[in-house]
Amino acid sequence: MEDLEFGPMTEDDLDEVMQIERVSFSVPWSLGMFKQDLVFPLARCLTAKRAEAGTQRLAGYVLCWFVADEVHVTNIAVRKDLRKQGVATRLLEEALSQARRDRMRYCTLEVRVSNEAAKGFYRKLGFEAKGIRPKYYSDNNEDAMIMRLDL
Ligand SMILES: CC(C)(COP(=O)(O)OP(=O)(O)OC[C@H]1O[C@@H](n2cnc3c(N)ncnc32)[C@H](O)[C@@H]1OP(=O)(O)O)[C@@H](O)C(=O)NCCC(=O)NCCS
Repeated sequence: MEDLEFGPMTEDDLDEVMQIERVSFSVPWSLGMFKQDLVFPLARCLTAKRAEAGTQRLAGYVLCWFVADEVHVTNIAVRKDLRKQGVATRLLEEALSQARRDRMRYCTLEVRVSNEAAKGFYRKLGFEAKGIRPKYYSDNNEDAMIMRLDL
């Protein structure tokens, strides 16, 4: 998708963030969780927006924590009707280039073992499976796959 603009997430984005969040996850983050990350010094909250009918609309977002030399992806989602057009790829690449500028050494994340779309997405970006956290997700006791990319 050509016409994406990237920038830091602000409180003004949170209505649209919550709309995407609620349709993207079986256990969505609460509004309060996003608000906490917006003021947490180690968090980086990035949005991708595009012009639609004369206004900037949210296409997706990625949230990470930059801790010591590790970037941990805590949340990423793309609006349902804009998926499979490279939005998440460009969002994560944007976050990873910030990480490289900040001399982070690797990027990690957890993903539900059943989430084939996300696993395919991370693999395409070069992430490798590094292990399993058993019963990590308390809603259905699903395992998490730990994935890692060296930066
Ligand atoms: C995972 C997610 C963020 C991907 O966003 P996206 O913008 O559609 O991803 P991209 O278009 O950049 O996809 C890049 C690659 O990822 C893989 N991929 C993306 N969606 C996929 C799907 N539904 N099935 C299989 N592979 C998929 C493909 O390899 C794709 O490359 P291709 O288009 O050349 O085949 C999106 O599906 C989403 O918001 N899901 C719900 C939230 C979620 O699960 N987040 C991850 C939590 S760990």
